[in-house]
Amino acid sequence: MREQVRERYAVAATSRSCCDSDCCSTGDVTGGAYTTDDLAHIPDRAAEVSLGCGNPTAVAELSPGETVLDLGSGGGIDVLLSARRVGPAGFAYGLDMTDEMLEVARRNAAETGLGNVEFLKGYIEDIPLPDETVDVVISNCVINLSVDKPKVFAEIHRVLKPGGRIGISDIVAQDHLSPAERAERGDWVGCIAGALSYAEYRSGLVDAGFESITLEPTHVVTEGMDSVIIRARK
Ligand SMILES: C[S@@+](CC[C@H](N)C(=O)[O-])C[C@H]1O[C@@H](n2cnc3c(N)ncnc32)[C@H](O)[C@@H]1O
Repeated sequence: MREQVRERYAVAATSRSCCDSDCCSTGDVTGGAYTTDDLAHIPDRAAEVSLGCGNPTAVAELSPGETVLDLGSGGGIDVLLSARRVGPAGFAYGLDMTDEMLEVARRNAAETGLGNVEFLKGYIEDIPLPDETVDVVISNCVINLSVDKPKVFAEIHRVLKPGGRIGISDIVAQDHLSPAERAERGDWVGCIAGALSYAEYRSGLVDAGFESITLEPTHVVTEGMDSVIIRARK
C-alpha cells in the first residue's frame, strides 16, 4: 500500500494537472485555506502541487524561534510558510518518502532563498530526527495515507519537546461509517479509505500520550467524511 501511495504522489509531483478529484486537495488553493498573503510569498509551483486539505500553519500559531516539522511535506508549501513564520532564529523541516516530491520542494526552497529549511527523505512512521527536538509538528492530509497510524502518533510524540504541540489537517470519517463504507467513498491513495474516524483519531492520540486533544471539522469532503483540524499537546 505504501508503494502505491508513493507511486501516486511521484506522478502528482511531475504532473501539472495533479489536483484531480482523486487527490486530497480540493483543487481550490487560492480561494481555500491559504490567504493571498501566504501565496504571495511562495513560488507558484509550490502552490500548484499543493495537495493538502487545509492550512496547518494557520492553526499551529507558530512563533519566531520555533522548530517545526511537516510530515509528508509534498511540494513544500507548508514548510516554506512555516519557515517564514518562525523566522531566521527558527527552523522548518519537511519529511517525505517520495523523491520526486523532495526534488520539487528543494527547488521551491532554493527559489525562496530561505536559509532555515531542510527537506528530509524518510517515512512518517520512522522519523529521522532525535527525541525531543521539535516544538510543533504539522501535517496536511497525509496521516490518513499511513498504514501504521499508531506508529506515526508514537513517532510524533517522541520527536516533540515536552509541551510541544501538533496542528494537523486531515480527512476524518464520521463515527457512524464502517471501514467498508469509507472505502465505498474513495480509494486509499486519494486519502479516503485509510481515514480514521473521530473516535479512532482521538484514542490513537491518547494512547500515544497526547493531551488537550481537539478535532474541529472545517468542511465536508464527501458524504460522511470531513476535513478536520486536529490539535493536541505533549
Ligand atoms: C496528499 S500529499 C500532501 C502533500 C503536502 N502535505 C501538501 O499539503 O501539499 C501526501 C504526501 O505525503 C507523502 N507521504 C505519504 N505517505 C507517506 C509516508 N508514509 N511517509 C512519508 N511520506 C509520505 C507523499 O509522498 C506526498 O508527498
